[in-house]
Amino acid sequence: MKHLLKLLDLSTEEIIDLLNLADQLKYERNHHIPHPHLQGKTLGMIFQKASTRTRVSFETGMVQLGGYPLFLSSNDLQIGRGEPVQDTARVLSRYLDGIMIRTFAQQEVEDLAQYGSIPIINGLTDFCHPCQVLADLMTIREYKGSFQGLKMCYIGDGNNMANSLIVGGLKVGMEVSIACPDAYQPDQKVLEFANANGGFTMTNRPEEAAAGADVIFTDVWASMGQEGEAEQRKLAFAGFQVNDTVLAAANPEAMVQHCLPAHRGEEITASVFEAHAKEIFDEAENRLHAQKAVLVKLMG
Ligand code: CP
Ligand code: NVA
Repeated sequence: MKHLLKLLDLSTEEIIDLLNLADQLKYERNHHIPHPHLQGKTLGMIFQKASTRTRVSFETGMVQLGGYPLFLSSNDLQIGRGEPVQDTARVLSRYLDGIMIRTFAQQEVEDLAQYGSIPIINGLTDFCHPCQVLADLMTIREYKGSFQGLKMCYIGDGNNMANSLIVGGLKVGMEVSIACPDAYQPDQKVLEFANANGGFTMTNRPEEAAAGADVIFTDVWASMGQEGEAEQRKLAFAGFQVNDTVLAAANPEAMVQHCLPAHRGEEITASVFEAHAKEIFDEAENRLHAQKAVLVKLMG
């Protein structure tokens, strides 16, 4: 594994390896055992979109590994004034030991990897959110013990989270069902992978997708960059909400996960969110451990 560009690139073994290392790093941190695997290494973190979790977890994660994180807002980089990503990649490769990037187009992340000579980590694009889903898988395994026989359900927009959850969930052997409006389905490449893999169903009826599910996911109706479509999306997604009716269809022991930020009253009710807050904030914490595993694997 040279980069983390999208989960489609990873084998099941590579994903499980990362989750095992993440568990170990979490154990070490909880027991005050230092793990300075990246001493003297610098990670550049390019952000073209806002972030709370990704920025803070990567930044503190690098410090905990003995390395140095460099926050690079695209507002201050020449990339924000049109310097090509191909040149940025070659320049930054001379200074840094790795780059994490959050941006719009997946192609930009792929280009960084193609033109640069250091590991590239996708910190969210419009296409996918692999770091988040590694943390999600880590959390599911923590709560359920294994992935064997589990059904994962996602309700909402066929967006970056849906794309990564489908691929990640299927790769570790879960059954995956998704409910989305017909006009907001996941990416075609992801659907091709899912249909070829088996264990995948897609419907426009949330309760059908949630039937017997062990883990229920949702995400915002309007992602970063889609603020202008927010009103139209509220209409399209009314009914695609994680609420008591959806949970009544699921396994009574079902977990609820949300990558955050959450919009209570839209994709999830306030009461479902609060009833499952422990799982959701454990999921947020696991961003730190899962990403430290990615950093160690790629830069260690
Ligand atoms: N879930 C997630 O990626 O959060 P941020 O946008 O705050 O980084
Ligand atoms: N789908 C959301 C995820 C945020 C972490 C977005 O892209 O804005």
